[in-house]
Amino acid sequence: MQGAIALLWFSLLCLCSHAWMPQGSSSSINATADELALLNFKSMLSSPSDGLLASWNTTSHFCSWAGVSCSRRHPERVISLLMNSFNLSGRISPFLGNLSFLRELDLGGNQLVGEIPADLARLIRLQALNLSFNQLQGEIPTEIGLGLKNLINLNLGSNSFSGEIPWSLADLPLLKYFTLSNNRLSGEIPPNLGNLTNLKVLQLDLNTLSGTIPSSLGQLPSLSWLTLGANNLSGPIPDSLWNISTLTTYSVQQNMLNGSIPPDAFNNLPYLQSIYMDRNRFHGPIPRSIV
Ligand SMILES: *[C@@H]1O[C@H](CO)[C@@H](O)[C@H](O)[C@H]1NC(C)=O
Ligand SMILES: *[C@@H]1O[C@H](CO)[C@@H](O)[C@H](O)[C@H]1NC(C)=O
Ligand SMILES: *[C@@H]1O[C@H](CO)[C@@H](O)[C@H](O)[C@H]1NC(C)=O
Ligand SMILES: *[C@@H]1O[C@H](CO)[C@@H](O)[C@H](O)[C@H]1NC(C)=O
Ligand SMILES: *[C@@H]1O[C@H](CO)[C@@H](O)[C@H](O)[C@H]1NC(C)=O
Ligand SMILES: *[C@@H]1O[C@H](CO)[C@@H](O)[C@H](O)[C@H]1NC(C)=O
Ligand SMILES: *[C@@H]1O[C@H](CO)[C@@H](O)[C@H](O)[C@H]1NC(C)=O
Ligand SMILES: *[C@@H]1O[C@H](CO)[C@@H](O)[C@H](O)[C@H]1NC(C)=O
Ligand SMILES: *[C@@H]1O[C@H](CO)[C@@H](O)[C@H](O)[C@H]1NC(C)=O
Repeated sequence: MQGAIALLWFSLLCLCSHAWMPQGSSSSINATADELALLNFKSMLSSPSDGLLASWNTTSHFCSWAGVSCSRRHPERVISLLMNSFNLSGRISPFLGNLSFLRELDLGGNQLVGEIPADLARLIRLQALNLSFNQLQGEIPTEIGLGLKNLINLNLGSNSFSGEIPWSLADLPLLKYFTLSNNRLSGEIPPNLGNLTNLKVLQLDLNTLSGTIPSSLGQLPSLSWLTLGANNLSGPIPDSLWNISTLTTYSVQQNMLNGSIPPDAFNNLPYLQSIYMDRNRFHGPIPRSIV
């Protein structure tokens, strides 16, 4: 009986709130901030009505648009935007920073140009950001490291980013997969990357990074994939790197590294499958521990 009364009250409340809502077509134009963000994103693309973006029209709810997924608990909130290889061209809208429930943003494998809007750093719930294989340029915004504290996967590889690797990126405590390969990044590898204790994959190859390899990278306890090849790194390989026992793939080829390889170098690398060290300035014998 009490339940029935509660239900009745609930229905009345619902009716009342319905009565206050705008009627007819005007209510469907009342876009949420998320819909506005998606529409603005679409408007900054070069061919917004082509291909998969044709479904991005107001005849259907934005949660059903290609690449868009909304939350079950918060039905009007976008939680993922997965548009890898959608043939998108144009710029990335700063309005995407308003998708405050977003957990995954994958725009990899498109033809996007311009810079990463610093507004994306407002996506505090973001766990995966994939902007790889586009034609993005400019510096990587420092804000990314300051704001995206839940990032697990950051892939900015194969673009034309320049400038230095922001030190703030070493302050993403959950980061596991970190790829900046194949850009035009310069300056030194920030030594504080050794603080990314969850890192499994670190790919910095194919840039113009200079200076020495920081010995702090040897502190990374779960690193399995480390690629630093095709840069302008000099000096010796720090001894600590031969101690990352979790390594499976390791490349430093095509740099200006020198010094000799310690005799016991391979004693602590039981899982090593691939190592690339060619085109450097190493000298001395090949250590017996490799066999
Ligand atoms: C949508 O409409 C409601 C009430 O009709 C209003 O409170 C809200 O601010 C509107 N949202 C936007 C994004 O305009
Ligand atoms: C709008 O999207 C629907 C699918 O959601 C599609 O069937 C329809 O052709 C689209 N309309 C236009 C004008 O592109
Ligand atoms: C990709 O988009 C361009 C225009 O931006 C268009 O000319 C081309 O046909 C599209 N390719 C595919 C496979 O949809
Ligand atoms: C969304 O983001 C843009 C740029 O970051 C901003 O100008 C705009 O006011 C924001 N709010 C809404 C509701 O679109
Ligand atoms: C990111 O995008 C690239 C290019 O399309 C793709 O190869 C890669 O698998 C994507 N995912 C991750 C997790 O990097
Ligand atoms: C790295 O972490 C250590 C603590 O483990 C801290 O003392 C140091 O300041 C951090 N380095 C940077 C550059 O953030
Ligand atoms: C590589 O580093 C050396 C100094 O170690 C510097 O003289 C040279 O200009 C650098 N080359 C590039 C392409 O950055
Ligand atoms: C490598 O690890 C061993 C044993 O864990 C330790 O004694 C040694 O100091 C380490 N070497 C470096 C250079 O970190
Ligand atoms: C390695 O190269 C640096 C300059 O990059 C030089 O100062 C050092 O003497 C070289 N060491 C060896 C062992 O060749």
